[in-house]
Amino acid sequence: MNASQSRRVLCVVTCATLAARDVGKLVGLAQDADWSVCVVATPMATRFIDETALEAQTGFPVRSDYKQPGTPDVLPPPDAIIVGGASANTINKLSAGVSDNLALGLLNEAIGLGLPLAILPFVNTALAAHPAFERSVRQLRDAGVTVLLGEGGFVPNPPNQGERNLPNYPWGKALRAVEGPPD
Ligand SMILES: Cc1cc2nc3c(=O)[nH]c(=O)nc-3n(C[C@H](O)[C@H](O)[C@H](O)COP(=O)(O)O)c2cc1C
Repeated sequence: MNASQSRRVLCVVTCATLAARDVGKLVGLAQDADWSVCVVATPMATRFIDETALEAQTGFPVRSDYKQPGTPDVLPPPDAIIVGGASANTINKLSAGVSDNLALGLLNEAIGLGLPLAILPFVNTALAAHPAFERSVRQLRDAGVTVLLGEGGFVPNPPNQGERNLPNYPWGKALRAVEGPPD
């Protein structure tokens, strides 16, 4: 698939969770729906993904760090963003407005711009029950972000059972959350 500029651009952000290794599934679903897709990983998420495979699949470099000042953007501006395999860490930092990596910078700007933004967490029941996480989800929803947590989205697994959730991880629901109404 090559990177046509005429199509809608979806930026897929992924975090350092087990789900990140399957992020190519979301890329494929979005390409089938005629999105041009690029992938941005948190620095830690680069340990979980196959960057070479994702670059071949998307036609774009996988970015995980801010560009050098004064250099051109290598990724097109997104029309929508999905955070798939979203970690508790990134969700908590985003709700606080922290932008200490490229992924968070894009996400914080997306909230300010009002871009369609869906977050599909991948967290266990222990992380999900932490008061900071519950507060973060509430604050992000109040800011207009779709957080696909709970029935109808991602239902957290008990600790150390994340592998079991991978085959049924609802990538398609994240894509539907940022799709506009049909033409
Ligand atoms: C093997 C492994 C699996 C992990 N799985 C998860 C997970 O499912 N959810 C989560 O929130 N954090 C998980 N973590 C912890 C995150 O990787 C850690 O909080 C990291 O700092 C998140 O960085 P990021 O938010 O910048 O991607 C996992 C860590 C490791 C090493």
